[in-house]
Amino acid sequence: MSKQLILYYSQGGHTAHICRTMMEHIRALGHDCDMMHLQEAASAGVNWDTYDAVALGSCVLYGSYHQSVFDFVEANKSQLEAKPNSFFSVNVVARNPEKRVPDNNKYLQKFITLSSWQPQNVKVIAGKVNYPAWKWYDRMMIQLIMKMTNGPTDPSSVIDYTDYDDVKAYAESLVKMAP
Ligand SMILES: Cc1cc2nc3c(=O)[nH]c(=O)nc-3n(C[C@H](O)[C@H](O)[C@H](O)COP(=O)(O)O)c2cc1C
Repeated sequence: MSKQLILYYSQGGHTAHICRTMMEHIRALGHDCDMMHLQEAASAGVNWDTYDAVALGSCVLYGSYHQSVFDFVEANKSQLEAKPNSFFSVNVVARNPEKRVPDNNKYLQKFITLSSWQPQNVKVIAGKVNYPAWKWYDRMMIQLIMKMTNGPTDPSSVIDYTDYDDVKAYAESLVKMAP
């Protein structure tokens, strides 16, 4: 039995939902798993010694990641590198299966370029469009981006693009990474 840690940044709750799916799947496979928002991890600290592998992921916001993601990575680079580690990016550009290939996803590539931590393993996960839950400015901006990329623009759209079987497969790959 191994113990996994999933660290995440989520603004609207969907990345947290993806992490919960991963955690529950890992537990169902007979392993142990914790998940922690990066805000909590930064303030309460992480008991790194108790984990065999770590995944860290974040949603994409306006073409990048919240500054706290980079701050956490900088402050904890050696701990992340000390065990099997993986980074995952959640974004709606990945609604197109081609953009789920790490080499084809500009946000995944952006993280690798900007981060001093070079994860051993990476994953792109399609996120959720949730116009009714978004503030008017965010809704307007994303409608504009969607218009340019042939995505949904109806302001009442709630579309979950996440492939949960693929998320579970990713969770299994984390378990396999653990020694
Ligand atoms: C303010 C805002 C900006 C976003 N910017 C992008 C973006 O630039 N590219 C993209 O692919 N997705 C973008 N998204 C989509 C989110 O990455 C996606 O909705 C994700 O599922 C949100 O996860 P969360 O609920 O954990 O915050 C944006 C979403 C919001 C709310």
